[in-house]
Amino acid sequence: MKKSASRHYPRRLELNGTAVEFRLMTAEDGPALNQFMAELPVHDLLFVRRNISHPKVIKAWLEALGKSVSSLVAYANGQLVGCTAVVVDSCSWSPHVGDLRILVAPAWRGRGLGRVLIKECVNLALSQGLEKLTVQMTVDQSAAITTFEGLGFQPESVLRNHVKDHDGRTYDLALLSLEVKELAARASGKGMATAISD
Ligand SMILES: CC(C)(COP(=O)(O)OP(=O)(O)OC[C@H]1O[C@@H](n2cnc3c(N)ncnc32)[C@H](O)[C@@H]1OP(=O)(O)O)[C@@H](O)C(=O)NCCC(=O)NCCS
Repeated sequence: MKKSASRHYPRRLELNGTAVEFRLMTAEDGPALNQFMAELPVHDLLFVRRNISHPKVIKAWLEALGKSVSSLVAYANGQLVGCTAVVVDSCSWSPHVGDLRILVAPAWRGRGLGRVLIKECVNLALSQGLEKLTVQMTVDQSAAITTFEGLGFQPESVLRNHVKDHDGRTYDLALLSLEVKELAARASGKGMATAISD
């Protein structure tokens, strides 16, 4: 990771009349995260290389926080309702690129939480000095693709038959990206404090 995030948390927002708190994920979120993942449909997890519903993978995720991963959690009424991860490989030739993952609890979809979490990740990535964000999802995740394109992400490529579910069915994987550095430059030209409005 290039530098530690300078964006401040917790942040609070009202969504559909319910208060939602956003904060940086810590190891203390482990039990809530395990429960959140266990309740998600498997198809929602195919965009990540590893099966993040597995407790071992969640443990490795929590151990990587503040190193190669920065994550946000969203809580409403004491329940974990969304989470994100921006993963950076600082030893690769792409230390300026963050790979974004985002998940919203099915009961919370369509209320604007996904859009808020993506915007939050863009601003968090910039505060870490990242220049580009990538995101992957199966091509049939139309809600996800619409959400990312609506926020300025551009399609880059499609990897055919790239992921396989437990039943052996393969899916194409779409890769979208956002040049956050360019976005920030445009925003500062307009006198905006953040690259993408809060
Ligand atoms: C993608 C995801 C994070 C979106 O979260 P969300 O909270 O439902 O998103 P929002 O409520 O902010 O909706 C944003 C936009 O998505 C679109 N959208 C949301 N739900 C939709 C649905 N069921 N069908 C079609 N479009 C939909 C709409 O365009 C919406 O914009 P609008 O407010 O103008 O209607 C969520 O669906 C999810 O967790 N999916 C599974 C995991 C995944 O695919 N993650 C992305 C890869 S990292």
